[in-house]
Amino acid sequence: MAKFCFLLCSVLIFLAISSEARNAPSLATINDSPSNLNRTYTKVCDPQRFSDLGLDMNDFAYCDSSLSYDVRVKDLIDRMTLTEKVQQIGDKAYGVPRIGLAKYEWWSEALHGISDVGQWNSKASFFDDVVPAATSFPCPITTTAAFNQSLWKSIGQAVSTEARAMYNLGHAGLTFWSPNINVVRDPRWGRALETPGEDPFTVGTYAANYVRGLQDIEGIENTADPNSRPLKVAACCKHYAAYDVDNWLGVDRTHFDARVTEQDMLETFVKPFEMCVKDGDVTSVMCSYNRINGIPACADPKLLRDTIRGEWDLHGYIVSDCDSVQVMIDNHKWLSDEPEDAVSQALKAGLDLDCGNYYTNYADKAVVQGKVKEKEIDESLKNLYFVLMRLGFFDGSPKFESLGKEDVCSDEHIELATQAAREGMVLLKNFNGTLPLNTDEIKTIAVVGPHANATNAMIGNYAGVPCKYVSPLDGLSTYAEVQYAMGCVNVMCKNSSLVFPAMQAAKNADATIIVAGIDLSVEAESLDRVDLLLPGYQTELINQVAAVSKGPVIVVIMSAGGVDISFARDNGNVKAILWAGFPGEEGGQAIADVLFGKYNPGGRLPLTWHESSYVDMLPMTSMPLRPVDSLGYPGRTYKFFNGSTVYPFGYGLSYTTFDYSLTSAERSLNIQLNKFQHCRDLNYTDGSFKPPCPAILTEDLQCDDNNLEFEVEVSNTGTVDGSEVVMLYWTPPKGIVESPIKQLIGFQKVFVPAGGSQKVKFQLNACKSLGIVNYRGYHLLPSGGHSIVIGDNLLSFPVGINFEQVN
Ligand SMILES: *[C@@H]1O[C@H](CO)[C@@H](O)[C@H](O)[C@H]1NC(C)=O
Ligand SMILES: *[C@@H]1O[C@H](CO)[C@@H](O)[C@H](O)[C@H]1NC(C)=O
Ligand SMILES: *[C@@H]1O[C@H](CO)[C@@H](O)[C@H](O)[C@H]1NC(C)=O
Ligand SMILES: *[C@@H]1O[C@H](CO)[C@@H](O)[C@H](O)[C@H]1NC(C)=O
Ligand SMILES: *[C@@H]1O[C@H](CO)[C@@H](O)[C@H](O)[C@H]1NC(C)=O
Ligand SMILES: *[C@@H]1O[C@H](CO)[C@@H](O)[C@H](O)[C@H]1NC(C)=O
Ligand SMILES: *[C@@H]1O[C@H](CO)[C@@H](O)[C@H](O)[C@H]1NC(C)=O
Repeated sequence: MAKFCFLLCSVLIFLAISSEARNAPSLATINDSPSNLNRTYTKVCDPQRFSDLGLDMNDFAYCDSSLSYDVRVKDLIDRMTLTEKVQQIGDKAYGVPRIGLAKYEWWSEALHGISDVGQWNSKASFFDDVVPAATSFPCPITTTAAFNQSLWKSIGQAVSTEARAMYNLGHAGLTFWSPNINVVRDPRWGRALETPGEDPFTVGTYAANYVRGLQDIEGIENTADPNSRPLKVAACCKHYAAYDVDNWLGVDRTHFDARVTEQDMLETFVKPFEMCVKDGDVTSVMCSYNRINGIPACADPKLLRDTIRGEWDLHGYIVSDCDSVQVMIDNHKWLSDEPEDAVSQALKAGLDLDCGNYYTNYADKAVVQGKVKEKEIDESLKNLYFVLMRLGFFDGSPKFESLGKEDVCSDEHIELATQAAREGMVLLKNFNGTLPLNTDEIKTIAVVGPHANATNAMIGNYAGVPCKYVSPLDGLSTYAEVQYAMGCVNVMCKNSSLVFPAMQAAKNADATIIVAGIDLSVEAESLDRVDLLLPGYQTELINQVAAVSKGPVIVVIMSAGGVDISFARDNGNVKAILWAGFPGEEGGQAIADVLFGKYNPGGRLPLTWHESSYVDMLPMTSMPLRPVDSLGYPGRTYKFFNGSTVYPFGYGLSYTTFDYSLTSAERSLNIQLNKFQHCRDLNYTDGSFKPPCPAILTEDLQCDDNNLEFEVEVSNTGTVDGSEVVMLYWTPPKGIVESPIKQLIGFQKVFVPAGGSQKVKFQLNACKSLGIVNYRGYHLLPSGGHSIVIGDNLLSFPVGINFEQVN
């Protein structure tokens, strides 16, 4: 009897608790333990909370919502002692019960869904019985391949809805240290999966859209005072800057000194951060572990205070990568610093928050020793509390307080994750229209390879617990009868003993799908690649299975960075190749939908797929983007590498064909100069035409308006509907020394029904889009014959820029 009651009663209690959680209008968020409070509250400025603390809220101006944030934040800071202040500038802010200030954990992550930070950090975003899972969208490298700005923003919106719901349930903070927007300068970098690829413009555009999706509240995207604009959640663009070496042949990020030219810095490394701050109005930037030209990124006042806060006008706070301040001492041995020196240098540089405990442990001593002013700490606190005010931490956010469990892993979000994965698939090869497979002909399929039954490999890193998984095997089973053979135990594939059973499976099936690639055991945070090949026996597996298959063979690759699969591209037995990236929890469904033609793929590679010999030509630690002729180093990224590739940046096929025609275009731009606008010289290669006025400083020009307009008509000339990414490149005038080969300056994705057409209009600003950064760090607009190129030379036309001196 007792036992029966034990079981039944716990079920009843469980039901009671969960239904209470569902119905409760506002749930646990502010938890003041270890103070003497037992209750939880939704906001700091709750009169009941103050009275439970033995305080009267009316005594505290910082809780008076009729006052400006300026006045309130100052009131709050002025109440604190130095010791109390320094306890608030680490990621764990301890709060000050004496004055009613609650504690707060600043560290949550949402790279492609709410991630499980709980594994490192007991108080940030985490999962348990109350919130068992959250929607796991594709990794950013895959989502980027969709080249669809509204998709990027929609994912940000879905993630922030889940974030608010989890915050309400006490399972996440309000400040998320995502996205990762470092440019993938070298194909070996282990963190490519977290990023939007190798093109600074694409990376910056992704950043601005994802950040706006996370942060913006519909209807109040802009306010007169950006420092009081309300936020859904706070995002963070990281890791600033020139960070893209993790651990390569013993060189690791906490010791690495990136030697970077000012030209590369402006043009490539900081460009996406500038777009993130200016276009995305992000509330936070995180500085990186590495040094840049000798100086630790988190201790450089030129990079932080002067650039992010000064020049770009950040409305928010600057945070360190975790333990970066300690890394200055322990790893970089920066200036033989004592902890107080490092802390004061970072504070003076403009670093507001230390993810770690160096600020908390040493900032008060640094002040007492006279190494930094207490006022610098006040400034940091001000930047931090403005963000918490905007998030409703003090006053609540009625708009979001009804979000709860049913808003996490909703059908709508899972469908968006599936859609994102479909849009991110890149078709690399499709011999004679092998794909899509036809269910009338293909009744049985052999599904082989180390990723054939991939689950957690699809969600990569900075992941949460997904709502569910649809593996490739699951997805393909919905279209045909599947015979599964692993082929390899795992991606390392160190043993060929499972190849034979895979060949057997392929001999009998109507089609064979080989799902191969790499995973976090090969490319990850703290793990760069040493080559670009498929590991172990995977190449043999593909070649041998392809040699004996009865039906057509399709190779699906899961990876973030490019893999040298030229052997499969050139193997006549491999009829088609699809790159799936790391496609998130619904990845297997998306792969199946593409292979069987339910969805016509339209993704494009967000980075160059290099031949494996590329990495033998230059060390990963060589930072220049341009070729280094004296050392025989080739250039980096499509902008500067002029050699053969496995597949180039922007590559991607469709099941249909598209035609382009130019419907209208600006062909020339005459800019009149006054006598204060001086011509600047540019270096031209020998023998090329150099205009009399080679260039003008961009900042000297009136560049407020979009002055270039192009319209193209995209026709779907095939027999199936499809989406096309219209990619607009700029090629600078011929002969300018060290200018990029080309640069993406715009892209739009359009759906065009079979036989139909769509007009696509680009409105650009010549100063922003057609400019170069010279070797001295000036932004210049060159005169002469520029070209606009659409796609892979599908359409191109010249745009002449002329400067006329008028006095
Ligand atoms: C909090 O709960 C504990 C244990 O239930 C109790 O002993 C304590 O008195 C409570 N504190 C307050 C302030 O209610
Ligand atoms: C872009 O993404 C949105 C989802 O936010 C989707 O509705 C739309 O169809 C996509 N556009 C194209 C052309 O695929
Ligand atoms: C291409 O496909 C068509 C139709 O399925 C077939 O008739 C033709 O022989 C194929 N061509 C090659 C080169 O395989
Ligand atoms: C596929 O993987 C899942 C999760 O790891 C496992 O439960 C399932 O048994 C696997 N399927 C096959 C056919 O091995
Ligand atoms: C390869 O793997 C099989 C099955 O796991 C095992 O029986 C065999 O001993 C392995 N061979 C080698 C050379 O490691
Ligand atoms: C441009 O020319 C000047 C003068 O000849 C030279 O000093 C400089 O190094 C050149 N710069 C580049 C990038 O070639
Ligand atoms: C690329 O290299 C080839 C061969 O060296 C050369 O002819 C061509 O001009 C180069 N193109 C660019 C854009 O540098």
